Amino acid sequence: MERHIQILLNRLSLASITVATITLLLLFLQAPPETCITQNHQQGAHHRHPKSTCDFTHRARTSLHKKNTRLWSTQKWLKTVHSFSSLFLTLKSLSHLTNHSRVLCVSAGAGHEVRALKQIGVKDVTGVELVDSPPLVSRADPHNLPFFDGVFDLGFSAHLDQALFPSRYVAEMERTVRVGGVCVVAVEECGEEEVGEIGRLFRKSKFVSAQNFSLVGSRMTRIIFRVTAPP
Ligand SMILES: *[C@@H]1O[C@H](CO)[C@@H](O)[C@H](O)[C@H]1NC(C)=O
Ligand SMILES: *[C@@H]1O[C@H](CO)[C@@H](O)[C@H](O)[C@H]1NC(C)=O
Repeated sequence: MERHIQILLNRLSLASITVATITLLLLFLQAPPETCITQNHQQGAHHRHPKSTCDFTHRARTSLHKKNTRLWSTQKWLKTVHSFSSLFLTLKSLSHLTNHSRVLCVSAGAGHEVRALKQIGVKDVTGVELVDSPPLVSRADPHNLPFFDGVFDLGFSAHLDQALFPSRYVAEMERTVRVGGVCVVAVEECGEEEVGEIGRLFRKSKFVSAQNFSLVGSRMTRIIFRVTAPP
């Protein structure tokens, strides 16, 4: 009799451990990968899930503001933003970019390029990165962008070289940029051969130009492609 109860109890505890594990697993699997889209980005109707505004408390907002004020006044930040501004001004002078362009910056890091674009007058700029940096950069996987097809006029990335799956990364840039729009990538300085290799990743676009330039002292090459085919 005693042994019977012992066995029963053992079974019960085993069962509850199993249930707890499964529950945890389900919770883990169901947690939605919410993209944090800031208030001022909600004006654009092109975002797929604009409902998930980040729910900052007042205190979090204040400390975030302080942190950003500090970051945005460092020499390094200012120099990098300035360097990106020069690049984007070149794109403006080449008529690939206007103040009214809808621009997506993929792998935008802390948001230097987003800030640079806004500084030169571009109004609709979206920055995404695996880790968000509000208010400039929202969280999204570059390999699976949370945007509809063809909603941007220009897609930009300075980190294609570090992409885990370059062809998937490029395909997502091409998908979200409209036909006739441009994809611009800045990569480590390279020659014709590498430019050709990168060009082969852009299956829905036509090569426009490649040009060496300097980004915060690093020698880089910017390559421009025009999207020619719908996804
Ligand atoms: C774009 O915006 C910038 C900054 O606000 C401004 O200086 C520039 O004149 C604007 N360009 C055009 C073509 O409106
Ligand atoms: C960039 O500069 C390097 C070294 O001078 C050169 O070999 C390469 O062809 C240049 N790339 C482009 C796209 O002009």
